[in-house]
Amino acid sequence: MQETVFVTGGAGFIGSNFILRQLAQNSSSILNLDKLTYAGNLRNLDAIASDNRYEFVHGDIGDRALVRRLLQDRTPHAVVHFAAESHVDRSIRGPDDFIRTNVDGTFALLEEARAYYENLREQPRQNFRFLHVSTDEVYGSLAPADPPFSERTPYAPNSPYAASKAASDHLVRAYHHTYGLPTLTTNCSNNYGPFQFPEKLIPLMILNARDRKPLPVYGDGQNVRDWLYVEDHCAAIATVLARGRVGETYNIGGWNEKRNLDIVYLICDLVDEIEGRSGAARRELITFVKDRPGHDRRYAMDASKIERELGWRPRETFETGIRKTVLWYLENAAWVKEVTSGSYRQWIETHYSS
Ligand code: NAD
Ligand code: DAU
Repeated sequence: MQETVFVTGGAGFIGSNFILRQLAQNSSSILNLDKLTYAGNLRNLDAIASDNRYEFVHGDIGDRALVRRLLQDRTPHAVVHFAAESHVDRSIRGPDDFIRTNVDGTFALLEEARAYYENLREQPRQNFRFLHVSTDEVYGSLAPADPPFSERTPYAPNSPYAASKAASDHLVRAYHHTYGLPTLTTNCSNNYGPFQFPEKLIPLMILNARDRKPLPVYGDGQNVRDWLYVEDHCAAIATVLARGRVGETYNIGGWNEKRNLDIVYLICDLVDEIEGRSGAARRELITFVKDRPGHDRRYAMDASKIERELGWRPRETFETGIRKTVLWYLENAAWVKEVTSGSYRQWIETHYSS
């Protein structure tokens, strides 16, 4: 019988990249449960919409009756849990949805997965996995000379988003420790690539540079993030799902720390090169704006455990990945137009006007 992966949040940025990759590389079926919030977009999955190994269900991970029915009917061999509210700035303006989805929603999913797992027969029970997709932000902020975050770094989340993800990580840990649910947790650094909603730094800067709009850099632009191409993240998740040790957490990163300002410079130069430069260099559009409250200064990931134990390493270099990403946004004007209408414009106006 064909195996099924139950994906939550598969219409979002990373989830949709994961589904496209899985169906291209693997024979298992995918069930995608997504609420289609502002960040969910079925267009991302146009390429596989009519693939008979793929099924989409519109719904909330917090709807326990729905989740129960899907688990019972589709009998997945794994749950890969992406669904979340994911934007730090939105969590600062209004944390409610972050608690509802990231904490309560993960709890609901865990409860239903536990009930399902406990009723499985011997063989499917041995194979079942619950993979929770999390973030490096749970570890807090690093000083310039600190070593990168490892799996043993104590949690110190600083934003409501990070705190909600930390809470969900703790719940997942507890469900393994207490109930024996076969969980895996991945904590990854900043992703970039196709299908990322343009509220996040890289797509926002590409599109503003294209349109010659101001490029809003928070604070002094010296904050550091570790960047990983989204396909590499998806490959790492697939690797952990296939071979990760049950109950373990794995840090995933690109060994690629960059200051925000350097990222924006690079994007400006690439857009100048690709679109041509009639007039001033796009770097001149950079505008320093009020800092994000509680803005974490530096993230860096020690991804040596996943390399040592499972043999995963990123394939894409930042130079090739960022060029592909800039090209993708410039070449996919219809996708961009659709996601940047309506509520997106409202967010940009409210957030950046202050
Ligand atoms: P995203 O915001 O692009 O997508 C989230 C998806 O979840 C959307 O399709 C949305 O509709 C769906 N969703 C939200 N609430 C839901 C609910 N209650 N029920 C069902 N579906 C719901 O997020 P992303 O950037 O793709 O991130 C995916 C996961 O990876 C998140 O858990 C995030 O914390 C984690 N993560 C993201 C990054 C990053 O750089 N983007 C890095 C590390 C970890
Ligand atoms: O580290 C992993 C996390 O990366 C994920 O868990 C989150 O879901 C994801 O959104 C991302 O969080 P960040 O806050 O790091 O990403 P963002 O793209 O919002 O911001 C990246 C950096 O750029 C951060 O230091 C803030 C800065 N920034 C962001 C925006 C949107 C700006 O300077 N200007 C901006 O307009």
